[in-house]
Amino acid sequence: MSVHIYSRSEELSRAAAREFAARAKEAIEERGRFAVVLAGGSTPEAMYGILARDYMDRIDWSRIYVFFGDERSVPPHHEDSNLKMASEVLLDHVPVGNVHRMRGELPPDQAAEAYEEELRMFFRTEDIPRFDLILLGLGADGHTASLFPETPALEVHDRWVVANPVPRLDTTRITLTIPVINAARAVIFLVEGEDKAEAVREVLEGDADPRAYPAKLIQPPGGPEWMLDQSAASLLSEL
Ligand code: 6PG
Repeated sequence: MSVHIYSRSEELSRAAAREFAARAKEAIEERGRFAVVLAGGSTPEAMYGILARDYMDRIDWSRIYVFFGDERSVPPHHEDSNLKMASEVLLDHVPVGNVHRMRGELPPDQAAEAYEEELRMFFRTEDIPRFDLILLGLGADGHTASLFPETPALEVHDRWVVANPVPRLDTTRITLTIPVINAARAVIFLVEGEDKAEAVREVLEGDADPRAYPAKLIQPPGGPEWMLDQSAASLLSEL
C-alpha cells in the first residue's frame, strides 16, 4: 500500500482531484471509459467540489461512468443520501450523463439485487467487475463503504452488492462487497481528522481482527492508496 500525508485537508482534496483526473485520462485512453465508484460521507465533498470547479473542461465527462460504493436506505432527495451529496457538489455541475445510483428508496435487498443487475448489464460479464477507481472513506470504527464491524456483509464472497444490517445505526445499508472492491484497478482511501487517527493506526499498523476493522479487508492488487491529512496520520509510528 502507499500512504500520502498532506498538511491540510485542502491539499488532500486537491491531490485527490488530480489523481481522479489522471486516472480518468489513462482509463479513457486505454479502455475508452472510466468506471469510477464515489465514496459517501462528508470527507470527499471538498474533492468533488474541486472537480466541479476546476476540472469541468479538463476531463471528458462523457466517458465517465459514475457508481456508488454504498447508500443509505433513504430516497434520493433525503439529506442522508450519498447521491444527494454527490449531486449537489459535483454531478449537477458537470456534463456527466452516466450516473448509476443505488436505489436507497427501495427495500434494501431489492435495491442490492437491482444494483448488482445494473453492474452485470454495464460490465457485460459474469466475472467479478473491475472498476477503474474506487474511492473510499473510513469511519472512526474502522468501517468503509457500508462494511461495518461484525456485520454479515463481511462474510459475503458470492455477491457483488448486498443489503447489510447495521444494528449500531439501527438501519440497513446497501454496499458493494469486499470481492468487488478488491478487484478494482485502484482503490483510494480519503481520510481526514483526528477522530480517525486511531482507526488509521489500527488499520495500517495494528493487529486487531479485521472483522473489527473492516477497512483492513480492502486489499486490491498492489494494495490500496491512502490519502491522509496530518491529523488522521497523527498516530502512525512510521511518520
Ligand atoms: C457513508 C460512507 C462511509 C463513510 C465513512 C466516513 O455512506 O457514510 O460510505 O463509509 O465514508 O463513514 O464518513 P465521513 O467522511 O463523513 O467521516
